[in-house]
Amino acid sequence: MTRTDADVLIVHGGLPLQGEVRVRGAKNLVPKAMVAALLGQEPSRIRNVPDIRDVAIVKGLLQLHGVAVQPGEEPGELILDPQNVERANVADIDAHAGSSRIPILFCGPLLHRLGHAFIPDLGGCRIGDRPINFHLDALRQFGAVVEKRPEGLYLEAPQRLRGTKIQLPYPSVGATEQVLLTAVCAEGVTELRNAAVEPEIIDLICVLQKMGAIISVHTDRVIRITGVERLGGYDHRALPDRLEAASWACAALATSGDIYVRGAQQKDMMTFLNVYRTIGGAFQVDDSPEGGIRFWHPGGELKSIALETDVHPGFQTDWQQPLVVALTQAGGLSIVHETVYENRFGFTSALRQMGAVIQLYRECLGGTPCRFGQRNYLHSAAIYGPTKLQGAELVIPDLRGGFSYLIAALAAQGTSTVHGIDLIYRGYENFLDKLKGLGANFELP
Ligand code: EPU
Repeated sequence: MTRTDADVLIVHGGLPLQGEVRVRGAKNLVPKAMVAALLGQEPSRIRNVPDIRDVAIVKGLLQLHGVAVQPGEEPGELILDPQNVERANVADIDAHAGSSRIPILFCGPLLHRLGHAFIPDLGGCRIGDRPINFHLDALRQFGAVVEKRPEGLYLEAPQRLRGTKIQLPYPSVGATEQVLLTAVCAEGVTELRNAAVEPEIIDLICVLQKMGAIISVHTDRVIRITGVERLGGYDHRALPDRLEAASWACAALATSGDIYVRGAQQKDMMTFLNVYRTIGGAFQVDDSPEGGIRFWHPGGELKSIALETDVHPGFQTDWQQPLVVALTQAGGLSIVHETVYENRFGFTSALRQMGAVIQLYRECLGGTPCRFGQRNYLHSAAIYGPTKLQGAELVIPDLRGGFSYLIAALAAQGTSTVHGIDLIYRGYENFLDKLKGLGANFELP
């Protein structure tokens, strides 16, 4: 089954998902590595590229700026040649407005290559306000002049950008990447404090180091970057998508199934695996070169848990939504405190409609108080289970919430109609074929 324009899926639930899926390169690394190629004076090669919408968006934006993007020899390989980088037509760039959050990362590379940049309005999942103040403050500190206009952002670098000291108010993934992609070619040393250190960021640092950058990662979230005059190309195999892997793991648990996730890597999923085991899920790591992790429901009742999402090495926020679906099948009261996004529980209203018992709270339930505690956001959830889910009419709200609805529909008794499945292609390659291979019963109307 290839990608389809149909946006609705009819799902007949109640069957355990069983079989094997493969995860490829991480959605939250590959598009950023593609942006990094803009900084090089020579072509770059990225391997293990998933066929997802975020990759297509960045490919389109790179091409608008004169980067030649060609498939390589092996499947999932792209060659990016940035030797003729040029100014793009603003109207053409603007056609990408609202499509993704990645365009904001073009700022530093375009300022280095062209001295100016235009960035359209951003898209991405509506799971909170998602401001870009950290990005813009950092760019200004490097010496960029930023002008906000109704159609987007205009930036200029009247002189070569200069290294600086930056302290992020929160370890933001995107802002850390912004600083890395800007500092590598800035004059002098940049010291970034309170940086995010997610595995995808370390992989981006590996990409930049291959290109000739000098970056050192210190304890306590400090990263130092010594700017260089010139970067070359890279040849890099993207790290596997630990977020997609966890989604399939939760699907195995929620449907009482058994899924071998080829490509999943233990070291980037340790926090998730601890939680999986604590709630009664079983897994087995296969460390062979073509290996992965097998996830399954070992029988009996799952156990409830109290956890909070956090920046790495904490429990990743993108694991939260699929896990909540699995927790509807756990005995007793589970507490999930979301501390990364203020508004990532909107998807639970549809789960309630399916029979789940979930109550949202404005307070920080469980562990430590977070930034959202005093600010009136429903950012804690209490889930009481196990509850039998029933099929329902569902409208997908965002990427991870959307995949979670598919899991819920597959775990439920009866038929669900899921609208808006197109959104899932942003981050899950070929998911309809994968579901078919696992024995899911669904049809496109
Ligand atoms: N924040 C600000 N100001 C900023 C930037 C961030 O206040 O200028 C806040 C955000 O509002 C949020 C928190 O900082 O509350 C963390 O945001 P972060 O910048 O870390 O997120 P991001 O870079 O926009 C990436 C992933 C997300 C993932 C987060 C956290 C990509 C394309 N997106 O987003 O992935 O949830 O990091 O790990 O890499 C997903 O894959 O479904 C997804 C949403």
